Amino acid sequence: MPAGLKERNVTETLKPDLIETGAVEETQSPDERPEPRGTVTFRVWRGDRAGGRLVDYATPVSEGMVVLDAIHQIQAEQANDLAVRWNCKAGKCGSCSAEVNGSPKLMCMTRLNELPLNEPVTVEPMRAFPPVKDLVTDVSWNFRVKTRIKPFKPRPADAPDGTWRVDQADVDRVQEFRKCIECFLCQDVCHVLREHHLHEEFIGPRFLVYVAALEMHPLDTEDRVADLRRAHGIGYCNITKCCTAVCPEHITITDNAIIPLKERVVDEFYDPLGRLLKVFSRREGA
Ligand code: SF4
Ligand code: SF4
Ligand code: FES
Repeated sequence: MPAGLKERNVTETLKPDLIETGAVEETQSPDERPEPRGTVTFRVWRGDRAGGRLVDYATPVSEGMVVLDAIHQIQAEQANDLAVRWNCKAGKCGSCSAEVNGSPKLMCMTRLNELPLNEPVTVEPMRAFPPVKDLVTDVSWNFRVKTRIKPFKPRPADAPDGTWRVDQADVDRVQEFRKCIECFLCQDVCHVLREHHLHEEFIGPRFLVYVAALEMHPLDTEDRVADLRRAHGIGYCNITKCCTAVCPEHITITDNAIIPLKERVVDEFYDPLGRLLKVFSRREGA
């Protein structure tokens, strides 16, 4: 568990359907819903590593607003010391991750007309990481995890001019993984990190996506399968698909990254025929 992470006193928890099925909540397009009007109460977590509490702020809302707009308005007009991390306000920097009404979301991409506004909107920091202040969490554990993954190791160039030849289909396969904006919402929702705090044993869905991007890269020659099994703890993932459900980039984390990696681990460690063939193919290539 990262230092400073402990159970927080919060009133909202993840919605059960999200935990159990990974189902996407929205059934109606945001454009079909009525625009917000009037004054809405935002119940915002205020505190630091020592502890905190939810504080209510009533603020006027209007057409087109997102949760981050409301938080900025509260910061400007009522709570100048409210800490919130953001950069792009366009769903591309991955900075404004939080839990809105108990669901991991980018605040800048969560329109108010997606939410029930007749009751307080709860806004809390991600729970899988230690709080720094208010809505800001310490996500540095993620960057340390990344350094533990064996880096890209390309095969020698295919042509004398130092270039390679690859099939477009092989390039397309890994392209999806490269859309990751490192918002860490998938890490936040994953019960292995969120509930069981196995940060030392399990690298989490974001980094399984990262490993998949490397392992399936058509030029890569590194072997990360043994690491997946032991150092990266892929066996802890029980394919609940919660990570896929919250990914703002719509990366099919479980089906396209984690399951193929699990299959590689099974082939390598639990399929004796496959192992034998691999040994012979290595000998022939020697
Ligand atoms: S599918 Fe696996 S990695 Fe994704 S949230 Fe569930 S247990 Fe975690
Ligand atoms: S895989 Fe998706 S949810 Fe996870 S860090 Fe990347 S963009 Fe965010
Ligand atoms: S501010 Fe950049 S993703 Fe929300």
